[in-house]
Amino acid sequence: MPHITVDGKRIEAKDRQMILQACLDAGMAIPHYCYHPGLSIPASCRICLVEVEGLPKLVPSCQTPVRDGMVVHSTSPKSVANQKQVMEYLLINHPLDCPVCDQAGECYLQDYSYQYGRSQSRFEEDKVKNPKKDVGQNVMLYSDRCIMCTRCVRFTREVSGTSELYVDGRGHTEEIDIFPGKPLNNKLSGNVVDLCPVGALLDKDFLFKQRVWLLKETPSISPVDSGGENIWIHQNEGVVYRIKPRYNAEVNQWWISDDTRYSFKPIHDPKRLKQAMRMQYGTQIPTLFNHALEEAANGLKNIAKENGPGSLYAMFSPMMTCEEAYLLGKWMLSIDPQATFVLGPVPTSGQNETFKHSISGKTTFTIQAEKVPNAAGIRRVMQMLGGATASLEEVSKNAKLKGGWILGGYLSAWTSGVTLPKGFKVVQDILPSNLTDGADIVLPAASWAEKSGTWENFAGKLQSFDAAILPVEGARREGDVYSRLLGRTGFFNAATVRSEMGAPFADVPAPDAKREEPAFEFVEL
Ligand code: SF4
Ligand code: FES
Repeated sequence: MPHITVDGKRIEAKDRQMILQACLDAGMAIPHYCYHPGLSIPASCRICLVEVEGLPKLVPSCQTPVRDGMVVHSTSPKSVANQKQVMEYLLINHPLDCPVCDQAGECYLQDYSYQYGRSQSRFEEDKVKNPKKDVGQNVMLYSDRCIMCTRCVRFTREVSGTSELYVDGRGHTEEIDIFPGKPLNNKLSGNVVDLCPVGALLDKDFLFKQRVWLLKETPSISPVDSGGENIWIHQNEGVVYRIKPRYNAEVNQWWISDDTRYSFKPIHDPKRLKQAMRMQYGTQIPTLFNHALEEAANGLKNIAKENGPGSLYAMFSPMMTCEEAYLLGKWMLSIDPQATFVLGPVPTSGQNETFKHSISGKTTFTIQAEKVPNAAGIRRVMQMLGGATASLEEVSKNAKLKGGWILGGYLSAWTSGVTLPKGFKVVQDILPSNLTDGADIVLPAASWAEKSGTWENFAGKLQSFDAAILPVEGARREGDVYSRLLGRTGFFNAATVRSEMGAPFADVPAPDAKREEPAFEFVEL
């Protein structure tokens, strides 16, 4: 392992690593714009230039490999003079619209201007004013804020492989643009917003909704497919405003699909179920959640008593967490040791979609065809519980089944084609459907962002996630509901249930809340 000394601090680097990445890994800040660990290295912005002892001129730290014994100065007078000059150059045409820019608060230009730039502009001529452009269904381009780092262009060539963006013009009139009639509408398009170090590429959905410093972030997992993309949920006062990618080298690296990015919409759907209901003389009437729960439990217990073992079933949802399925399964077995377990619908959409580097053809990202996050995990729990299992079709034809507990939680309509045995039904869901309309008991459930637990992705990777917000008023987390049915005191705790479940769940760590790049650190120069 080579060792280098940066600003008097000795750090360990990896073989053939670039100076900048070695510094970032060691928690040392060197300003950079065009460099991104997931993209090729053009070394075009020049702000990362450093002095290396023995070399006659400044070198780009993002593109210069480490050598054992190398001595680097990023805060020497020469390096600092370059940083100030680059900042001054970038700010020549940059508008001073931070107060109305969505990026303010997480803008590299703002941060570096404060730390590395001059305090006053010497530019007296007119700034070049470039237009705003609608470049795609999710993305807006404010050209005059662009610093031409080309991260976005490289992303469309090297990750999505769709090459919609390019650099038009030359010199100070250069602009990012799309080709005529070819908007930025690929299924990974939102990633260019995350990559843009300034507020040039903006998410139309998030535009002017929140100041970013008001948002709190929680590590979570994508609910839209079995890929298990790692995400941050950003919320303020219980309202989710956006989803950002969370780095995971094995799963999604730095990227997420647009489906994942906008998957939070159903959480605040005005149609969310908020009122517990019970059927009385053929009509559903509102009731208190606890009364509905008591009636649900008593109803199923009585059916098991009257009809004997094997008369109950539970339909688990692939939107449930493994911990929830385990607790519900345990309770069902406690009232009917021969209860049948069935996995609800697992919707798929054609084939997996793969994205490839436009030149090398290497696969860079895959969107899974299975459109639910935890079918594999629920199958694993069903096996672990050891009860009888059946397919949806077998359950629909089983006349012995007289009562069931049915889970939904899907982000869109899911009940078409689902036929369940006649008899007593308890339905727990987040959105209304023909099943909730005909249920004997309706219990409003929590959406994925409102609870914590574990999902297993298509590759068998178990990943835990935390609750970002409280459930909507009137809804209860499934984990709390089943803990209560099992007579446990206190609130549901996913980690405790995982240890009770044993291997492999007991070994699932808490979600990784580490950022891939060290947070910006203020260093007095
Ligand atoms: S739009 Fe953003 S990401 Fe693209 S070149 Fe300009 S500053 Fe870089
Ligand atoms: S980050 Fe090194 S030149 Fe841009």
